[in-house]
Amino acid sequence: MTDRYCVFGNPVAHSKSPAIHAAFAEQTGEAIEYTAIAAPLDDFAGAWRRFVAEGGRGANVTVPFKEEAFRLCDTLSQRARRAGAVNTLILGGNGLSNELKVYGDTTDGVGLVRDLKRHGVTLAAARVLVLGAGGAVRGVLEPLLAEGPASVRVANRTAAKAESLAADFSELGEITGGGFDAVVGQFQVVINGTSASLAGDLPPLPEDLFAPGATAYDMMYGAEPTVFLRWAAEHGARPEDGLGMLVEQAAESFFQWRGKHPDTAPVLERLRQAL
Ligand code: ATR
Repeated sequence: MTDRYCVFGNPVAHSKSPAIHAAFAEQTGEAIEYTAIAAPLDDFAGAWRRFVAEGGRGANVTVPFKEEAFRLCDTLSQRARRAGAVNTLILGGNGLSNELKVYGDTTDGVGLVRDLKRHGVTLAAARVLVLGAGGAVRGVLEPLLAEGPASVRVANRTAAKAESLAADFSELGEITGGGFDAVVGQFQVVINGTSASLAGDLPPLPEDLFAPGATAYDMMYGAEPTVFLRWAAEHGARPEDGLGMLVEQAAESFFQWRGKHPDTAPVLERLRQAL
């Protein structure tokens, strides 16, 4: 029988995950079916239970259900526990003795780090600036710090949120937080994890932010560069968007489910052309 997977979200109709996982399945010869399911806003757990009853083996989870998915897991990866959110559910995963127990992981941070490396970015010993202090940023900090940057500065519109987020991760490395007005010095890597790009807004940042050869990364993507990426390119940084992160986080989820690492490059290229 074909193993079933899906992405839960609301809305979810425009998700690229079904196409990405279909490509991975074809490439690796895995017989899986992967669909997009719009879970009701007030009953994510019920949607997951129904999916499992119909033969579901695992799922991706996107906005707005990542925290609810976190709460229904029986076991969590270390990085998911710290993120407080999961984007990958695995039935009977990670050696759970009971086949119906749920294992939760978050693959967003691994996806971000892999995509940065693909672009030739060195995180070790780098000064890294992360913009935003919401769920998207919380989900990537552990894998980012595991690369051994010299420092990570979290800057956010609401400074107190950046400070408390940094405090939550302080045992993993040199990480501090504050407002946009407290950003000083130059950075080799600047990652935009705010949702400002969605509204076409640019966080107020110093013009001399980028060290020579710096990379500016936006976790968002689109047919056109985001406002942040346009601004970064005008100020000397190399702009990269988050489409590669999307494909890499999917690849890590696929690996968790099927034990195979798909080749992400051709899948990313096809998505890029279709944007
Ligand atoms: P997500 O899951 O996308 O991280 P979130 O948890 O609501 O969503 O967080 C959104 C982030 O984008 C926050 O850091 C938010 O800043 P505040 O904490 O001050 O709200 C940031 N953000 C949203 N709109 C923004 C804007 N127009 N300018 C700057 N930052 C913005």
